[in-house]
Amino acid sequence: MSRKYNVAILGATGAVGTELLALLEERNFPVGSLKVLASERSAGKTISFAGKSLIIEAVTESSFDSVDIVLASAGGSISKKWLPIAAKAGAVSIDNSSAFRMHPDVPLIVPEVNPEAAAHHKGIIANPNCTTILLNVAVYPLHLVQPIKRIVASTYQSASGAGAMAMEEVKIQAQAILNGEPAVPEILPYPLAFNLFPHNSPMTDNAYCEEEMKMVNETRKIFGDPDIRVTATCVRVPVLRAHSEAINLEFQHPFNPDKAREILATAPGVKLVEDFSKNYFPMPIDASGKDDVLVGRIRQDISHPNCLELWLCGDQIRKGAALNAVQIAELLIAKSLI
Ligand code: A2P
Repeated sequence: MSRKYNVAILGATGAVGTELLALLEERNFPVGSLKVLASERSAGKTISFAGKSLIIEAVTESSFDSVDIVLASAGGSISKKWLPIAAKAGAVSIDNSSAFRMHPDVPLIVPEVNPEAAAHHKGIIANPNCTTILLNVAVYPLHLVQPIKRIVASTYQSASGAGAMAMEEVKIQAQAILNGEPAVPEILPYPLAFNLFPHNSPMTDNAYCEEEMKMVNETRKIFGDPDIRVTATCVRVPVLRAHSEAINLEFQHPFNPDKAREILATAPGVKLVEDFSKNYFPMPIDASGKDDVLVGRIRQDISHPNCLELWLCGDQIRKGAALNAVQIAELLIAKSLI
């Protein structure tokens, strides 16, 4: 009988945690035992997995004993506190937070791009930022054919990126506005229903927000190319789930859009969605709940001979978070790295 793995989900009640549970079941992940960990608030409540009811536990020092794989999505401070303890207990953690992403000893992996990085893990592997994962899956196949010099990204990010409670908040705000009442922000800093605002992650010293700098720094680390130039403007939009990105790519030489289309049509994790006659291109509604990053509107940038424009949508909770993490776990198993 093939080996099974004891899995713990840290943050099992959250938007990503819920998706992790669904994906483990859907993908027939070889789960031996499954521990569902969350805060004290949720301890004792139940959650269902594969037809069974599991009791949610608060995390303790002994939570990771006999655990092989931790899938963590409870925020940076929780990961910083518990993942080193999990590593000491012998588990390999795949962390969805930004806590360890830029650490030199921690591989940062998009399985379609740099699976080889997994071999160097020391007990913690980082799952990249959601917009970065979606961008990387879509543009890396082109980079392999002709190195990209510069990426200009503009993002349209859904509420799901701020967690399950932010998604709920948008629905409540929309209902309030339709009832003629004020939209009150509690989780997000400003009303998002019928509105948008530049991404709410903290500002950095260079006037880029942290989300934008994650796209810059993480893409360099994942591509293994410290010279690739990346700039981004990240915006939160009143979409519940799935992020969108308008991307401009600069190459050394012209890149034929039809050639790009041909490459992306068969690229792993990508689905080409383009019907210029109907003006039909990727939409968050179509990307929601899907594994693939939808890519379309591939066209020559008329302002620069060496640039291409493209548009993408991807499910932030799935490929942008939970699916990528589960794929990393599958990679560890396939390569006997666990
Ligand atoms: P809980 O539901 O008990 O608060 P989201 O990103 O969707 O907001 O989800 C965050 C996840 O992180 C939830 O599962 C949440 O559990 C969990 N979490 C929050 N604080 C802690 C903590 N101190 N210890 C463990 N899990 C936590």
